[in-house]
Amino acid sequence: MESSQQFPLQKNNSFNIKAICPIIYFPKTLADLKSLPDLSEKIFYILGDGSNTLFIEEQAPIIIKPNFKGIKISESADHYVVRAGAAENWHELVKYCLVKGIFGLENLALIPGSVGAAPVQNIGAYGAELSQFCSQIKWYEFASKAIKPLSNDDCQFSYRNSIFKEALYNKGIITEVIFNFPKLWRANLSYAGLNTLGQNPTAKQVMDKIISLRQAKLPDPTKLPNAGSFFKNPLVNKEKATSLKAIYPLIPLYIQDNGQVKLAAGWLIEEVGLKGYRKNGVGVHEHQALVLVNYGSDEGKDIVVLAKYVQQQVLAKFDILISPEVRMITQQGEQDFANLTKVHECH
Ligand code: EPU
Repeated sequence: MESSQQFPLQKNNSFNIKAICPIIYFPKTLADLKSLPDLSEKIFYILGDGSNTLFIEEQAPIIIKPNFKGIKISESADHYVVRAGAAENWHELVKYCLVKGIFGLENLALIPGSVGAAPVQNIGAYGAELSQFCSQIKWYEFASKAIKPLSNDDCQFSYRNSIFKEALYNKGIITEVIFNFPKLWRANLSYAGLNTLGQNPTAKQVMDKIISLRQAKLPDPTKLPNAGSFFKNPLVNKEKATSLKAIYPLIPLYIQDNGQVKLAAGWLIEEVGLKGYRKNGVGVHEHQALVLVNYGSDEGKDIVVLAKYVQQQVLAKFDILISPEVRMITQQGEQDFANLTKVHECH
């Protein structure tokens, strides 16, 4: 299996932060996976395209970067089945499906990252989520050294979460994602910004609209390093939402099936006056306050300091704790943002 020691990761994270790992493994076959050393007592991190990862220290832990490639399509009378290797690029998969006349992923166009990372945080945008289309995941289990199929239910998908961040965390590796698309397709126009498309747009028209919406608001990580939404949108109870609405009539509220209310973290951050804020070479994006950008820092801790400041300001004004969706990685492995006080204090 391909591997490399003292591997620089700056080109492998969309924040463009300098970090180095003692060793990186690139498994691309079952035999490669079986030949991985026993990591059960070691600290390691599984990296996709690095578009949701923040390296906080110059030293990173051992990295495994799955390199499973290939897209296969099959069909039944009323469905298409698409199987994509974990290392395929997400947006390339979306475009490939559309070219082949397979529709469904168009609302998820232009999301940075790999196919294998997509189910981990159940990527979602513009009224769609990966969980709506994912029928099965092939997952290699370190303990049994075997690939196991996991059904959609097994994955326990929820907003920006899945079993891969919970019970199966670091217990194995996603090698392939299998999607199911009904041939009978209808455009998903539930997101308010899609109402200019009329009643019956084509999937290509929906994709082009999503791409233009994203390009208008979200910075291109290859030009302005960032990791998309830095924070998750917080959930509050109905009472809290009602009292906020009384004070801020324009606050966006999204009522959930379970009665909870989702708030727009970007709105909260803008409301505390931090949209466009900059310090130490990092800042809050000027068009979408949910996105933190790196204007020229090499150090992930600058982003942590900024994120802590944003979190504190929102907490002070609204009494709401916003939490990052970005994964925080130190030499000691993944850290909970709440425990990163030392990085914050020493700065
Ligand atoms: N808003 C502001 N100011 C801002 C940003 C947003 O007032 O700076 C307001 C908007 O005007 C709107 C509301 O907040 O009323 C929601 O904004 P938007 O539709 O842009 O979506 P979001 O909640 O900020 C989420 C996802 C994005 C996804 C968009 C579109 C999360 C954490 N983020 O953002 O996902 O593209 O919806 O569906 O759920 C990502 O995960 O990296 C990502 C970009």
